[in-house]
Amino acid sequence: MLLDNIIKSEFQIDPDIHYLNHAGVSPWPVRAANAVKKFADGNVKSGATGYLDWLKLETRLRTQIKGLINAPSPDDISLLKNTSEALSVVACGIDWHDGDNIVSTDQEFPSNRIVWEAQARHGVELRQVDIMPSDESNDPELALISACDGRTRVMTVSSVQYGSGLKLDLASLGQFCRDNQLYFCVDAIQSIGAHQFDAQAIKADFVMADAHKWMCGPEGIALFYCRAEIRDQLRLNQFGWHMVEDHTDYNRKEWSPANNARRFECGSPNMLGIHALSASLSLFDEIGMEQIERCIVKNVSYLIDKLSEFKEINILSPTSEQRRAGIVTFKISTKESTEIHANLMKNKVICANRMGGIRFSPHFYTDINTIDKALDILSLSI
Ligand SMILES: Cc1ncc(COP(=O)(O)O)c(C=O)c1O
Repeated sequence: MLLDNIIKSEFQIDPDIHYLNHAGVSPWPVRAANAVKKFADGNVKSGATGYLDWLKLETRLRTQIKGLINAPSPDDISLLKNTSEALSVVACGIDWHDGDNIVSTDQEFPSNRIVWEAQARHGVELRQVDIMPSDESNDPELALISACDGRTRVMTVSSVQYGSGLKLDLASLGQFCRDNQLYFCVDAIQSIGAHQFDAQAIKADFVMADAHKWMCGPEGIALFYCRAEIRDQLRLNQFGWHMVEDHTDYNRKEWSPANNARRFECGSPNMLGIHALSASLSLFDEIGMEQIERCIVKNVSYLIDKLSEFKEINILSPTSEQRRAGIVTFKISTKESTEIHANLMKNKVICANRMGGIRFSPHFYTDINTIDKALDILSLSI
C-alpha cells in the first residue's frame, strides 16, 4: 500500500486537532486500538483460554524489537514497565564502589538523573556535563569524554535530549566506553520509532525506551536491551516466578535467574500492552524505519525553515542536520512561553512547554497542513 494510504487508514486523529507532541505521548494507529479491542473481547468471552497465543505474541514482540534496534537476539530484550524502571534495573544493579563516578549530561529528563543521584548512598558521584546545545561550535561528545576518569563506571545519556532535541553521536561515545571499559547506557525513548537505531553499531550496553512516544504504543510497556555478555554483571533487585530459568515449574524449590533477558521481568507480563505495542510496531516494520526517518527529517526541516521566518522566534534546538531529531523547541521574545503554550493548547495545537520555550515534535505521518495550521495559530498568539 502507498504510504499516503497507510497513513490515512491508520492515523485518524480528529481534524480539529493539530498534533505536534510525539516527544510527549503519541496517538495510536488504528491497528493498535483494534488489537486492544480484540484482546478485550477475547477476555470477556473466553478469559485466558488463548493464553498460548498470547505467549506467541509476546515472543513475536521481542523479535520485532530485536529488529527495530538491531539487537543480536530476541533473548536480549526484556519487556518492562517504563524507561525509568529499566534505568533503575541498571543503576541499582551495578556493583558500586565508594568513589566511583557516572558521567551524564546536564539536560537529562529526571528519569535519567534521579536514579543515578540515588547511588550517592554508595559514595558514587554523578557528573552532569554541560553540553550547550545552542552553541554549535561546542562538542558535546568531547565534553562527555573529557569528564571521564579512571573511576568512571558508566556513561549514561539520552540519544536525543527531551528538551532541546539535541542528537548525540552515540557511536563515538559507545566506542570510547567500550575502549575504556565503562558501561554505556542509552535512554533512547526520543529516538526509537523516529530514527534508525542500531544498538550493536553504537556499542550500547543498555538501551531503554517506553512505547508511548515515537513508537505510537501505549504507556506502561517499555523495551530494555542489555548486552548478553554483561547480563550477569547486573545484580538483580526484583524477584518473582517469571524471572527464573524454569519459570513454568512452580513446584521446584531451587531456582536460578533466567539465562536470558527474562531475568529482569519479575512477574506476569503486561499482556494488554504487548498486544497494543506489537500492533503498533507492525506498522513501523511495514513502512520501514528509513522511510519514517526521512519523513520526520522533512517535517522538521520544514518547521525550522518556517519558524526562522518569524523575527520574534529564537530556535533553541540545534538546526544542523546531524544534530537534530524529531524535536524543535523555540522561544518567543514577545511573550512568556507558558502563555503562548496555553493559547496553542486552547486552539488544539498539541505541543509542550519545555526549556522555557515551545516544543513541537511532528511524526512521520504529520502532514504539512497540520504544521501550517499550527504555525498560523502560533503567529496569532505571539
Ligand atoms: C528522555 C526521556 N527519558 C525518560 C522519559 C520518561 O520515561 P518513562 O515514563 O517511560 O519512565 C521521558 C519522558 O518524557 C523522556 O523524554
